[in-house]
Amino acid sequence: MSESKLIVFIYLLGETKAIPAGIFTHDNDLPMGIFAYGQRYLERKNCLPVDPVALPLGKAPREVLINGGLYGSFRDAAPDYWGRLVIAAEAKTAPEAMSEIDYLLAANATRVGNLDFRLALNDPEPELLPPNFNQLADIITAAAEIESAGTTSPYFLQLLRQGSSMGGARPKCTVEWQDSLWIAKFPAKGDTINMPRLEYATMTLAGNCGLNVPEMRLIQVGQQDVFLIKRFDRERTGSGWCRSGFQSSLSLMQWDEGEHHNWSYPAIAGRLRRFMTTPHIHELYRRMIFNILVRNTDDHPRNHGILFQGNQAALSPAYDIVPALTRPGVTTDFRLAMSVGNQGREALLENALSQAEQFGLLKGQAKGIINELVHKLRNWPGHFAECGFSAENIEQFRPSFRKEKMYG
Ligand SMILES: Nc1ncnc2c1ncn2[C@@H]1O[C@H](COP(=O)(O)OP(=O)(O)OP(=O)(O)O)[C@@H](O)[C@H]1O
Ligand SMILES: [Mg+2]
Repeated sequence: MSESKLIVFIYLLGETKAIPAGIFTHDNDLPMGIFAYGQRYLERKNCLPVDPVALPLGKAPREVLINGGLYGSFRDAAPDYWGRLVIAAEAKTAPEAMSEIDYLLAANATRVGNLDFRLALNDPEPELLPPNFNQLADIITAAAEIESAGTTSPYFLQLLRQGSSMGGARPKCTVEWQDSLWIAKFPAKGDTINMPRLEYATMTLAGNCGLNVPEMRLIQVGQQDVFLIKRFDRERTGSGWCRSGFQSSLSLMQWDEGEHHNWSYPAIAGRLRRFMTTPHIHELYRRMIFNILVRNTDDHPRNHGILFQGNQAALSPAYDIVPALTRPGVTTDFRLAMSVGNQGREALLENALSQAEQFGLLKGQAKGIINELVHKLRNWPGHFAECGFSAENIEQFRPSFRKEKMYG
């Protein structure tokens, strides 16, 4: 039997230093772990739950479900493919040689949300702070070298490592710029189109369609386009960075990464309705419709987040919305990553209408949202041209955008 024991730290509201909240123990052979809040933590007036949904404050230790090697909410604070590649390069080992717990512990101050994980109570705050915007050219070189060779020079590696603890598969790095933290997303090896520009164009289009999106920029670093998106879980204060809690829909729903058949927008909406106000649920509906209309089929539950400001829950601003490219006439029918209605994942507006009431919407209201988006999206080619895409590129993207009639 091998047992993991971690001290779970939390950055409380307005604080820039983490304090211990409790202990997580997990026998690696079992599908359950145990989390127990510390007595002294519970005595604090401003203590917050480490998982506001599944781990409410309380003295009794609680069993939690282990999915893919880690408890879901803690997994959100660990790196994914990209961050793991960088951490493994630093450890001079193959990414698969490290465990989930190794990665969780190796993540630094740029991990998503307000949790931290340490082996001992007196382990220090993570020392590596995000690199500076001015270092982006070196960071991009470092990312390209890591992608092609699995390694880079110690200086480059250190730079990249400083900002590489959040999730996702694409090359990226958190950087500090204009008194804020931003995620810089780079071109990846093997991209056939300009992904940073495509993400910028689609995400700003989403903003024009009324979706709640973070501040964004498209910048040039040398010959490369870089997409910058402001981090919504960090805010500068005099002495450092304050953090908001973050949870993906995957962990909110306690879904497993392999359980695709369970993933469902109406199910997420049903859960969110228990602790969020209606406008947030309507926003989720709007995102689902937008994803159908721009063919974003990578809308998996890790790409929908929940933010916690103290005990206040909100749907996080949208992120990672990009059309899947397709050729004309090849596949006009497609599916989203999650079920949208009675016909499962079929990306059809009729389907999206079928369970609108789960989102607290009357059919007429749902049709209103659909019509508004269909109307606003008619000018996508103009918007993409403004974002610097050529007429040729726009033709390339055309099959991804649905031509839909208005209802009624
Ligand atoms: N603006 C933001 N502020 C804070 N956290 C964010 C922001 N955007 C994304 N994240 C977090 O970082 C993770 C990775 O971001 P993103 O989904 O954009 O990367 P990706 O590599 O394109 O992902 P994927 O593997 O889904 O393609 C997200 O899952 C989310 O936890
Ligand atoms: Mg993502």
